[in-house]
Amino acid sequence: MAIRRVPTRAGDEAWLVTGYDQVKALLADRRLGRGHPDPDNAPRFTSSVVLGKPHKATAQQEIEKHALMRRMLAPEFSAKRMESMRPRVRHLVNDLLDDLVRQGQPADFHEAVSFPLPVLVICELLGVPADDREEFRNWSEAMSALNDEQKSMRGFAELWAYMAELVAQKRKSPADDVISRMTRQHPDAGEQEIAQLSAGLLFAGHETTVAAIDRAVMLLSLHPGQWQTLKDPDAVPAVVEEVLRHRAPLERRSDDSGMPRYAMADIEIEGTVVPAGDLVLLGIDQANRDPGRFPDPAAFVPRVPNPHLSFGHGFRFCVGAPLARVELAETLEALVTRFTAFGLAADPSTLSRRTEQLVGGVAQLPVRWTEA
Ligand code: HEM
Repeated sequence: MAIRRVPTRAGDEAWLVTGYDQVKALLADRRLGRGHPDPDNAPRFTSSVVLGKPHKATAQQEIEKHALMRRMLAPEFSAKRMESMRPRVRHLVNDLLDDLVRQGQPADFHEAVSFPLPVLVICELLGVPADDREEFRNWSEAMSALNDEQKSMRGFAELWAYMAELVAQKRKSPADDVISRMTRQHPDAGEQEIAQLSAGLLFAGHETTVAAIDRAVMLLSLHPGQWQTLKDPDAVPAVVEEVLRHRAPLERRSDDSGMPRYAMADIEIEGTVVPAGDLVLLGIDQANRDPGRFPDPAAFVPRVPNPHLSFGHGFRFCVGAPLARVELAETLEALVTRFTAFGLAADPSTLSRRTEQLVGGVAQLPVRWTEA
């Protein structure tokens, strides 16, 4: 069945859609939104503040707010601009790998490389002092706590307050960064709005990318043949796309998970009428494993083309996709350049998973290496 009723982690009910074609079409369907006319009584996906309770908005209000967000962010994170970040990202990756090597083996790749890299990069882009990143880590983790709404709300409030102060500072003395440019170029957007957007960016650009970098190392360890493929720099993008499509078995999320949306009107999906106000989960992971679209979906093999939906599709397509791709590619290139052998120092089934966190992933990633 491509659509079925499932319980959510918050204890409510939702419609889960899993077929590739259906998920792709619905990701781009404006009749599904993020807002709800009665948020207090809306079914919830999680108890977290992130993708938890919907905001009160009509379809029109949501479209206008979203359009403003895209106008502000899209030029800042364009593929061209992110390409120009590549040398800087390479430099940061190599600094972090130096730290890893200094620790001696085995060392924790998650702590030394996957976690700090996306934070350093997004902090530099936004103009957030990197010294504040330890605090940011705590807020970010608190925000995405799945089973503790109070903790999640506190994390979000603290991050938002921090960003509001930073935005006010940058209005007074602008620098060459995304927040300063947003305050200058969009005087119509309020300080709170820019602070909320920046807090969202810090968050969106962080946990997802950390999990993807960890996954790249795990998948390559489990499929050593693909390390050879990476020696050809032209082959790197296809490996990156397959890392994004594939979910390593050990961190596969519950099959009842998906990108949450609310029906803004009664909608027919696969012959089933989904009433307005109902929660719909768009099963991106399941779509990425649809054998009708990806033959032998469990295999980890670079595929060209690789039309995975990991960054979404349509008008909400991930703003940070070009950045995430640069970070993943530079990490993999640095690994094959610096090491003749690199891989997990533990059985994947023994790694502790971050099951209480929205994005999931692993808490540690012990690795061993042989330097070139
Ligand atoms: C591997 C890493 C990443 C993954 C898997 C990922 C995934 C996604 C997905 C699936 C969406 C669509 C959400 C929807 O349809 O409602 C999305 C949206 C978004 N992502 Fe990412 N993302 C990643 C990295 C980033 C980074 C690095 C940034 C920050 C620069 C970022 C910023 C955003 C923003 C702002 C949106 C909202 C776009 C909108 O609603 O129009 N993401 N991301």
